[in-house]
Amino acid sequence: MSRKIVLLASTGQVGFELNRQLQSFGEVVTVTRENVNFLDLEAVYQYINKISPDIIVNAAAYTAVDKAESDIASTFTLNRDLPRVLAELSIVHDAWLVHYSSDYVYPGNGDTSWIESDAPGPLNVYGQSKLEGDLAIESIASKYLIFRTSWVYAARGNNFLLSMLRLGKERDSLNIVNDQIGAPTPASLIATVSTLCLQKVISLDSAQSFSGVYHLASRGHTNWYDFASKIFDEARIRGLSLALKKGGLGQISSTEYPTPAKRPQNSRLNLDKIESKFGVIMPTWESQLSLTMEEWLDANGSV
Ligand SMILES: NC(=O)c1ccc[n+]([C@@H]2O[C@H](COP(=O)([O-])OP(=O)(O)OC[C@H]3O[C@@H](n4cnc5c(N)ncnc54)[C@H](OP(=O)(O)O)[C@@H]3O)[C@@H](O)[C@H]2O)c1
Repeated sequence: MSRKIVLLASTGQVGFELNRQLQSFGEVVTVTRENVNFLDLEAVYQYINKISPDIIVNAAAYTAVDKAESDIASTFTLNRDLPRVLAELSIVHDAWLVHYSSDYVYPGNGDTSWIESDAPGPLNVYGQSKLEGDLAIESIASKYLIFRTSWVYAARGNNFLLSMLRLGKERDSLNIVNDQIGAPTPASLIATVSTLCLQKVISLDSAQSFSGVYHLASRGHTNWYDFASKIFDEARIRGLSLALKKGGLGQISSTEYPTPAKRPQNSRLNLDKIESKFGVIMPTWESQLSLTMEEWLDANGSV
């Protein structure tokens, strides 16, 4: 009998890639807002309960970090209460639960990489809601993988890569923040590694010892300005026409670019736990950017 995998939010960046990659692993039943509004938790419970899943993968989240500062009720419903309901369903169906969390659960100080057991200390509503989602799963579920990732982008969706490619065509100069450090991580990498980890836990008898929180991000780190520089270098190498002048990319500090939500300055995520426990080696953010640019070009042409 084939495994039944419920995938929430196959329209998001990570959800879209998961939908591609999980197909080889079982029968994927996608659940999106076309089926049920995820803010209606009772409806979500009933809908998924009827499917009777073996695995639940939650790629849904309230990800508009600045809007979250004022849209607090919806943020906590999606990022804290939905994971709690999914954890309850995972117990009812003895299902594995895969969930995604964020570098924003950490306080962002210092200059060393965070390890999963470090004390959290979110700086904004989104980070607090993601942390409370993680805690809800940890307190209820018994078979779960929580992957904390950072700076997610893809060849589709709303993300920094696509914003830079658009702005680079429209403007001859741009200023980008240079004092937040992290690892840009493509949704495709997140989906690939999540699927590998899931394959491992499903195949093991004593898999419950794998339950826990893991960092899942590209290797290395950069800041948004250097990430943007690399994007434009890669674009020029591939012959993309840009309005942005050479030398038109400027650096500014976070204080010069105020946003409703405060951002952590240090989002470095230590990868030792996922690498040692699952035997994976995470690739560098530079190699991943190159691959994602190729994918974007294949889909959009070299206009
Ligand atoms: N993006 C980042 O930089 C980042 C960084 C660290 C961690 N993460 C975490 O990584 C995970 C995946 O993020 P992502 O970037 O893939 O997110 P995303 O592209 O913003 O996708 C969010 C998904 O949630 C769905 N959704 C939101 N509200 C909904 C509602 N009321 N009813 C039904 N569906 C709803 C969206 O559906 P629609 O398409 O219909 O709106 C979309 O499919 C999340 O847990 C996020 O917190 C993201």
